[in-house]
Amino acid sequence: MSEKICVAVLYGGYSAEREISLKSGKVVFDHLPSDTFDKYLVDVRTDGLFVQTLQGEVPAVLSPFGFRTEDAEYTFDVAFIAIHGTPGEDGIVQGMLDMLRVPYTTGGVLPMALTFSKAECNAYLAKMGFMVPKGIYTTEAVDPQKVGEELGFPVFVKPAKSGSSVGVSKVTTPDDLPKAIEVARQIDKLILIEQMVKGIEVSCGVTSVFGEVRALEITEIVPAGEFFDYNAKYSGKSQEITPARIRPEAAEYIKRTVEEVYKLLNLSGLCRIDFIVPDRSDPVLIEINTVPGLSEQSILPRQAAYLGIGLPELFSACIFNALKRQA
Ligand SMILES: Nc1ncnc2c1ncn2[C@@H]1O[C@H](COP(=O)(O)OP(=O)(O)O)[C@@H](O)[C@H]1O
Ligand SMILES: [Mg+2]
Repeated sequence: MSEKICVAVLYGGYSAEREISLKSGKVVFDHLPSDTFDKYLVDVRTDGLFVQTLQGEVPAVLSPFGFRTEDAEYTFDVAFIAIHGTPGEDGIVQGMLDMLRVPYTTGGVLPMALTFSKAECNAYLAKMGFMVPKGIYTTEAVDPQKVGEELGFPVFVKPAKSGSSVGVSKVTTPDDLPKAIEVARQIDKLILIEQMVKGIEVSCGVTSVFGEVRALEITEIVPAGEFFDYNAKYSGKSQEITPARIRPEAAEYIKRTVEEVYKLLNLSGLCRIDFIVPDRSDPVLIEINTVPGLSEQSILPRQAAYLGIGLPELFSACIFNALKRQA
């Protein structure tokens, strides 16, 4: 057997973000240095986990976690989780790997499950003193009039659990609220109706894979459309500017906040936290991404590049950190 570390790059998954995850996983696979790692892409689908080998796809074996070919057995030492959305970003794969005693590159079951549901996560962050948008979290029908009185229009309507802006709408009049709620409900029974925060949208990477918990850089997002919706995210038309052109106090506040939140929630690996920076008040936290996009063009890899950290170094550090956490 080789002395290299055997890595399963888990990718795919079964949410609307599957296609993006297939890209992220491939980028991780391509950039993990072959002299240190024996690496395999593992497609996680509703019909099972499948390892991509040179001989084609073979089902993963769970105990010990690995796979078999005609002439050999392979055991994974560690899993790199590159699945956006369920089951990689919500604690489900983490629970499976905990049971199999395989270390992995993200936070554990609780932080992943909590950050994946924006309603519970925001309620907890607000309780701990962080600024999140004022909102209503509900599984029931809502009276548009009341929403207007409580929050004022425009509002953002979103499913509690989703990503890539799928099911998210900006609603400017009470009449349009029921339709937006129906769209969000198709993804999750629990929905958020949030006051719109006006300002500059930014995102800040944060990680502990190099030792201490450290904010990366802040990226400003100038969406192509009304807001940073699915199209704006992947059409390549939105502008992303690193570092963001925001007040130095706001930048300081964001970097301090991402580090505090990362520690408080016991996150691990690469995370990215989104904020809106109003003209005159403190930045408001919009959401936490615990498996952010990992392609070369994605925000967090570009922040790392800005700091002189390349993808091979970044992804290798994630694996060493996962192994160290387990030891
Ligand atoms: N309260 C809000 N105020 C202003 N814009 C918002 C608000 N909530 C969401 N948005 C906009 O909608 C986008 C998607 O919302 P977000 O909560 O980040 O969902 P997702 O997890 O799908 O990315 C954000 O990037 C931002 O442009
Ligand atoms: Mg978002």
